Amino acid sequence: MTFEYANRIKQLPPYLFAEIEKIQGIKKAQGIDLISLSIGDPDLPPPQFITDALAKEAADQKNHKYSFSQGEPDFRMAVTDWYKTRFGVDLQSDQTMALLGSKEGIANITRAFINPGDKVLCPDPAYPVYANGGTILCDGVAIPLPLLEENNYCPDFKAVDTRRIKMMFINYPNNPTSTTVNLEVLKEIVAFAKKNNIILCYDNAYSEITYDGYRAPSILEVEGALDVAVEFNSLSKTFNMTGDRIGFAVGNKTLIAGLSKVKSQIDSGPPVYTQKVAVEALSSYTGCDPPEFLRQNNQILQQRRDLLVDTLSKLGFGCEKPKATFYVWVKCGGKSFEFVTKLLEVGVVVTPGSGFGRCGEGYVRIAFTQPKERIREACERIASIF
Ligand SMILES: Cc1ncc(COP(=O)(O)O)c(C=O)c1O
Repeated sequence: MTFEYANRIKQLPPYLFAEIEKIQGIKKAQGIDLISLSIGDPDLPPPQFITDALAKEAADQKNHKYSFSQGEPDFRMAVTDWYKTRFGVDLQSDQTMALLGSKEGIANITRAFINPGDKVLCPDPAYPVYANGGTILCDGVAIPLPLLEENNYCPDFKAVDTRRIKMMFINYPNNPTSTTVNLEVLKEIVAFAKKNNIILCYDNAYSEITYDGYRAPSILEVEGALDVAVEFNSLSKTFNMTGDRIGFAVGNKTLIAGLSKVKSQIDSGPPVYTQKVAVEALSSYTGCDPPEFLRQNNQILQQRRDLLVDTLSKLGFGCEKPKATFYVWVKCGGKSFEFVTKLLEVGVVVTPGSGFGRCGEGYVRIAFTQPKERIREACERIASIF
């Protein structure tokens, strides 16, 4: 029997990481101790109060029933309260919904609004889900929006042909470049979306992983953003809960209603016990500053960042200390893939920038999601070959 993939699946770009995984497998089989600085999954644990709450809520039988597909009322209330506390943004409950992590919402929002052939602006380099899991898998056309070093990795809207663009994705603090922005930049983005009647999907997944006193804004802080924007966030990075799959979308009522309509046909919301835990997690904020757990978490990450960037800079690589995320975007002085392969020779795994789009060529993304000792050792190994 032969089973043919749907055309939209055939359109997905080749899986660039497959080759790297193959080499990784060979190195492992040779007994080489690999240090993975490639994955965006924090090695640090969730705080104790979260794991305690999870045990308690999971033990409660009534928390194992179907949730409302838009999310439990107390979870949605906690999200609206968090937006008020953290960003000073007022939201109604119909401007909020639960997600199985922000990735799922980012992919599904396209299904609600994109018809075959509609264009979607996707940053380049970027988190691949905007173009692949979102746009391509619902027969839209992904139009790259270059984020270039000379523009501080911000979009140059003057260069965009806006015809038939229906939606755009924007992400700051940015993966993979780690760029952060202030409210002025967000105002320009909202103005562009409004002027051209483009649905603005803002990915704020790293809003809480910040350093040096930087606090990431929400797009919804911009006056009038609720006319065009929906924002995605989750507890994944903030509370080291990537595997718990709990996130949320907030913003324009019609956009939330469309996403909700799609999801009501696909899933039944995150587990009730996870939503209850998320309520406790979000309630740990008493103001716009990070709660104690997060301050300590980010301090650990900041020390790793400093170690990594200081060492790479001494070795002559162009990279800056990011004010957010747990990635360093490094100019590698050649082809991304060749650089990654060279590092694999000494057992250090990093991600080629070209995997995030054409404009990522010549860069690599190094994640500091490993303890300091491992990062130090990785730096020593890198130093041994440069
Ligand atoms: C930019 C960005 N957005 C969204 C996500 C998805 O995170 P989650 O689905 O765990 O909320 C990730 C995960 O790595 C990411 O890097």
